[in-house]
Amino acid sequence: MTGFKTLDDIGDVHGKRVLVREDLNVPMDGARVTDDTRLRAAAPTIAELSDKGAIVLVLAHFGRPKGEPEPEFSLAQVTQPLGQVLGREVRFVDWEGVEDAVATLQPGDIGLIENTRFFAGEEKNDPAVVERFARLGDLYVNDAFSAAHRAHASTEGLAHVLPAYAGRSMQIELEALEKALGKPEHPVAAVVGGAKVSTKLDVLKHLVEKVDHLIIGGGMANTFLAARGVDVGKSLCEHDLTATALEILDAADRANCIVHLPYDVVVAKEFRANPPTRTVNVHEVAADEMILDVGPAAVEALGDALKTCKTLVWNGPLGAFETPPFDVATVSLAKTAAALTKSGSLVSVAGGGDTVAALNQAGVADDFSFVSTAGGAFLEWMEGKELPGVAALMRQ
Ligand code: 3PG
Ligand code: MG
Repeated sequence: MTGFKTLDDIGDVHGKRVLVREDLNVPMDGARVTDDTRLRAAAPTIAELSDKGAIVLVLAHFGRPKGEPEPEFSLAQVTQPLGQVLGREVRFVDWEGVEDAVATLQPGDIGLIENTRFFAGEEKNDPAVVERFARLGDLYVNDAFSAAHRAHASTEGLAHVLPAYAGRSMQIELEALEKALGKPEHPVAAVVGGAKVSTKLDVLKHLVEKVDHLIIGGGMANTFLAARGVDVGKSLCEHDLTATALEILDAADRANCIVHLPYDVVVAKEFRANPPTRTVNVHEVAADEMILDVGPAAVEALGDALKTCKTLVWNGPLGAFETPPFDVATVSLAKTAAALTKSGSLVSVAGGGDTVAALNQAGVADDFSFVSTAGGAFLEWMEGKELPGVAALMRQ
C-alpha cells in the first residue's frame, strides 16, 4: 500500500529529535499494566529509531484528563513498564522544563513526555499547541493507529507542520486493514456482534455494500430477528430500531450481500453463569426466555460459509461470551476461522473492544492474520470513515 511514508523513507535520523506519537493508553491496576499489548505494539518503532541514533521523544495521551495536569493521569506511571517491554532505559520528561530536559538527551536516548492531554488545546487541535509540540522535534512519526480517529494536535496537527511518517505499528495496521476491506480478495465475510444495533448502525450500513456475507450475532441479531417477525421473548432487543434493521436487510439484498442471522439459539430464563438452558429454533423462544448465544446448527452453517470465503473481518462476539456457557458459539466460530487462516485459505482480521478479549478466550488471537490494537478507531474504519490521523499522513 502506498500513500504514506514509513520509517523506510525517513533517511538518516542520527542526532535528530523524532517525535513519536504512540498509544500508551493501557489498562492499569495500581502500578501494574494489566494488558501490555499496546506497549508491545509501540516497541519496534521506538527501538528502531533509537538504534539509528535518533533522540526519540514519545508523545502519548493517558486516560481522559480535562485539559490540565492531573497526577492520576500522569504518564510517569507508564515509564517503567514501557522500559521493561523495550528492554531499554526510558526517561520520563515532564512538561515543566521540557525544552531543557530534551536538550540533555543524547542520540539513541528515549524520552517519554508527559500526557499530551494536559493541554486543553491537544483535543482541540489548537495550532498553538501543535506549535508547542513541534518545537521539540525535527521529525514526526505517528505510530498510534488506535488514536487515529482523533483529530488532536499530537495525532493530526503535527503531521502538517513536521515531515511525517507512519511508524511500524501504524504501517502494519494500515496494510492489514487494506487487505481486509480496502482491496480484499472476495468472497469477503464480516462478523458483527455485540449487544446493540444502535452502536453499529453505520458499520452495518457500510459493510452490506462491501462484503458478500454479513454474519450478525450478539444482542443485535435479536433486533433483526424481531424485524423479521420473530418473537424474541425477553431477549435484549431494540424494538424501536426494527424499521432500520429492515432497511439494512433491504440494502443487503440490493447489494447481493447474504445476511446470516441465527436460526437456532441458546436460551435461558436468567442471565447468569451456568443457568439451565435450552437450544431451540428461533421460532420457539418462550415469552419468559432470552436468547444468549447462537445455536450449534447455525454455528456449523456459519463455519461452512467461512470455508467459501477468502477474507474475514471480525468485530464483536456472537453471544454473551463473558458469561459461561454463552461463549460457545464465539469460541467455536473463532476456532474455525483460525484453522482456515492457518491452512492459508483465509485472511482474517479482527479488532475493536470486546473482540480481542473474545479471541483470547478462544485461544486463537495469534492464529488470526491480524488483530488490531484499536477499539474506537477500528469501528470508525469499519464504518468507512476517514481517520484524521491517517488522512494527515496520506497528505504528506
Ligand atoms: C483508546 O484507548 O481507545 C484510544 O487510546 C483513544 O482514547 P480516547 O477514546 O480517550 O480518545
Ligand atoms: Mg476509547
